Amino acid sequence: MQSVTKLFIAFIFVFILWTLYVENQITNRSRTDNIDDLLESATRLERLLEYEKKKIKELTADVKRLNVRKRPGGLVMEEMVSPDLKHWKDPIPVLVFSCNRAQAVRDHVQKLIRYRPSQERFPIIVSQDCDNENVKNEVMQFGDKVQYIKHVAGDKANITIPPSHRQYTAYYRIARHYKLALNHVFVDKGYTSVIITEDDLDIAPDFFSYFSNTRYLLENDEKLWCVTAWNDNGKIENIDVNAASRLYRSDFFAGLGWMMTSKTWHELEPIWPTGFWDDWMREPVQRKERQCIRPEVSRTGMMSYGKEGASKGQFFSKHLIKIKVNDKYTDFSKIDLDYLLPGNFAKKTKFEVREEAIELGIDDVASFVFKPENKGKSVRVVYDGNVDYIRKADKLHVMHDFKAGVPRTAYDGIVTCFINGIRIYLVPDRTKVPGYDPQWAVPPSFGE
Ligand code: UD1
Ligand code: MN
Repeated sequence: MQSVTKLFIAFIFVFILWTLYVENQITNRSRTDNIDDLLESATRLERLLEYEKKKIKELTADVKRLNVRKRPGGLVMEEMVSPDLKHWKDPIPVLVFSCNRAQAVRDHVQKLIRYRPSQERFPIIVSQDCDNENVKNEVMQFGDKVQYIKHVAGDKANITIPPSHRQYTAYYRIARHYKLALNHVFVDKGYTSVIITEDDLDIAPDFFSYFSNTRYLLENDEKLWCVTAWNDNGKIENIDVNAASRLYRSDFFAGLGWMMTSKTWHELEPIWPTGFWDDWMREPVQRKERQCIRPEVSRTGMMSYGKEGASKGQFFSKHLIKIKVNDKYTDFSKIDLDYLLPGNFAKKTKFEVREEAIELGIDDVASFVFKPENKGKSVRVVYDGNVDYIRKADKLHVMHDFKAGVPRTAYDGIVTCFINGIRIYLVPDRTKVPGYDPQWAVPPSFGE
């Protein structure tokens, strides 16, 4: 047993003995002393208890922090969460956003129902804001397997849209719908978390295993504010399909099938924007350097219905529709996910990127990945600015754009992909790229 654990147990033992002793003293005295003395002693005891409780909390935190485990690779993981905190017991509702795509809603909800292990643990709430009867009828077909809520339709809700933003009307309606539906989940229903999906998303069979087993990570990690099912660079040629259990932290908020806590919603709700909610969440003032968990292999994908959306098919054929939806079921309850805790993940990444990977110029990557003897090796390519990043991302076929200066999937500026058995990291040169720069943009000459 760790010495700090022993110390902790000894401390609790002494504390209990001592409390019993003090209590005994009070009980004995109370027979003879007057009521004022008795009250004073009780108050003192109460204060003492508060103090001891605080101490126990601090010690528990120390024990958690100091427990050190060795990984087989020799890398020391410093943080851990006790196993009984990992099994999430509260129900986690799935909130499905819908408007006017009846067939999309049908396909989407069918998959959710097929894959969810329990109706009680994962209630499905379909929320609709458009007056489309077909959507409602499709939802009604599911009977009591799903809940349904309907809002006043966006076109009747008197939303104020700046004249120059008329072509973006849908984004204003969507943001309003999000606020209404999330308040339904958290304020009316009082849930402690939510998984948000949109009707045009495809769902992986282990979608529920993924979210329920990562929920504990959101609980105690102030630097984490979401778990997303989506990998923006999840095209088949960019991922390791055999590493379906592999997860990452990312500074990029992807959305598209994601989970957050009621705590985060109560923070965002009062300042929720009137439009473009996802880009708003990506702004530094909202994000506050918080990160999301994202998978190597996406747990959501795009159904063809997604082409006709608010963003009018932007990125659709080149990227979105190509995202591979995981088909190798992973039981995440069997996997220790503490490597995703902030310190552990920083250490692990540093080791993999700085020590394991070989540094190469981008033009040498192509020949490297095609040599059979290099299978299983990893490579690091350094970038020194936005245009340099775009050029290198294009060669690897990963998305080259930025949101609030953050490249898609980036963690501490690092973007990883997997090509032909080789793991590749695009890594910022910290002497030239000290951090994310919200001014970074893609010059028009580079296209989507
Ligand atoms: C894009 C994002 C989407 C985000 C939205 C808002 C992608 C692929 N999609 O929308 O995740 O939420 O921007 O910034 O990046 N909807 C309404 N009311 C409407 C229109 C749509 O509630 O008036 C619902 C749809 O049913 C859907 C969701 O909002 O569930 C997104 O709408 P969609 O038309 O799919 O727009 P995207 O371009 O995908
Ligand atoms: Mn969409």
